[in-house]
Amino acid sequence: MKLEVKNICCIGAGYVGGPTMAVIADKCPEINVNVVDKNEKRLKGWNSLDLSLLPVYEHGLDKLILRCRGRNLHFSNDLEKHISEADMIFISVNTPTKSKGIGAGQASDLKWIDASAREIAKYARGETIVIEKSTLPVRTAQTIKEILDSSSLLNQNKKFTVLSNPEFLSEGSAINDLENPDRVLIGGDDEDSINALTKIYLKWVNPEKILTTNLWSSELSKLSANAFLAQRISSINSISAICEATGADIKDVSKAIGTDSRIGEDFLNAGPGFGGSCFKKDILNLVYIANHYGLKEVASYWQKVVDINNWQTKRVSSLIVEKLFGTISSKKIAILGYAFKANTNDSRESAAISVSKELLNEGGNICIYDPKVSISQIKSDLVEDPIHLSNLEKSEGGWASAPTAIEAIKGSDAVVILTEWEEFRSLNWSKVASLMRPPSWIFDTRSIIDLEDAKKYGLNIWSIGLGN
Ligand code: NAD
Ligand code: UGA
Repeated sequence: MKLEVKNICCIGAGYVGGPTMAVIADKCPEINVNVVDKNEKRLKGWNSLDLSLLPVYEHGLDKLILRCRGRNLHFSNDLEKHISEADMIFISVNTPTKSKGIGAGQASDLKWIDASAREIAKYARGETIVIEKSTLPVRTAQTIKEILDSSSLLNQNKKFTVLSNPEFLSEGSAINDLENPDRVLIGGDDEDSINALTKIYLKWVNPEKILTTNLWSSELSKLSANAFLAQRISSINSISAICEATGADIKDVSKAIGTDSRIGEDFLNAGPGFGGSCFKKDILNLVYIANHYGLKEVASYWQKVVDINNWQTKRVSSLIVEKLFGTISSKKIAILGYAFKANTNDSRESAAISVSKELLNEGGNICIYDPKVSISQIKSDLVEDPIHLSNLEKSEGGWASAPTAIEAIKGSDAVVILTEWEEFRSLNWSKVASLMRPPSWIFDTRSIIDLEDAKKYGLNIWSIGLGN
């Protein structure tokens, strides 16, 4: 396989494809990077002159786009052209959980991977290195190889190698994670192709941080890393419930556990349950794979991580109803934060979706404020139209969105903090208390507020892992 990479194509201009390719284009100005997608709305966003309209919000992304777009970074719908010109193709398409058919609810839906492999098989010319950037079930590279090899049989000029190069970025810190990765993992069996990809990363990553393995270890490592991270969250969330029952404080417990260097302090923040597009789907995929290989005990072990997560989210919505005297019918509840974590506009699998739906179902009127998630996104998550903010109080089981936290809080019986946005840490509690209808409740599911300060103004406060 040739070593010189001049043209890169990335299929999928999503949360991974966009930022990842922006960083590669920035670090490798001599390489032409084309990100292709079929979603015209997304492409319009990526090509927008107004950088606030980029489809992905990440700190520092706008600067990268400004620097590289139109120079050596392009967003396009022309798959044929850019696949045919590419020496290296990243597949960065979505791989959600299957919603129907064999493995529904657990296995990854590989239809977008299959479609991408077929587009590559059809349009690629000459020697092409194909890279799995998406998170995939173990041995997917074999499927991709078989689709690609079938086209090589028909056209001897087409030659393919497949590598696995999973992405470990976290949303909210994507650019920093990409520029300073803990490690870069490359799985494969073709030395020249591995070297070609390594050469790109070496532009900004120390060689000792580049790990190479076989394909299957690389694919499995990505699923396992997410499962381990999610497992820590379910572990600390399970302990948060014990804290609330016993008078222990989850923050103290997290600190006491985390200062053991063998455990470490990261990922020990109790919360309303992990969200995001990947943890749940990747664990369910692991469960599916374990079952497939007859490893029932392994499957049920990992399934529990998801079960505890669902339980934690449900626990939060139930106790809100309980604290508000068992009924929230026509009461106004302010939801502060809707994204699945701070510093992102992504709401996929956010605990806020489940909590909001439960509260609406109980007849509560909810008023949502999030600094980055769009109202159209909330509407599509809740599968229900919003009502005008001024009509909310006349409603029962309706929702509206507010332009600021304070607007959302006005006239509310309860405030529920679901995302740890910085601005919620420093709310003016005196003002909040004066705007709410007593008896007023604050539910801090992220444990971020200054409890002593808030309590001074007569607010009832429930905090995760502490209770009230
Ligand atoms: P996404 O849904 O934001 O983006 C995927 C894009 O691929 C979409 O814009 C879609 O239109 C496009 N697409 C799908 N099929 C296509 C085709 N045949 N041709 C052209 N475009 C096509 O998904 P994402 O969050 O970027 O995740 C992509 C993959 O990366 C997933 O496997 C995910 O598990 C993994 N991953 C995600 C993250 C994250 O933080 N979001 C982090 C690490 C890994
Ligand atoms: C996660 C992993 O951290 C990335 O390494 C991985 O690449 C990515 O999934 C992926 O494969 O998609 P991400 O989902 O973007 O990244 O964000 P995280 O910071 O991991 O947070 C996930 C969820 O866990 C959020 O809802 C967050 O609020 C929650 N969380 C996180 C906690 O409740 N407590 C914590 O201590 C940490």
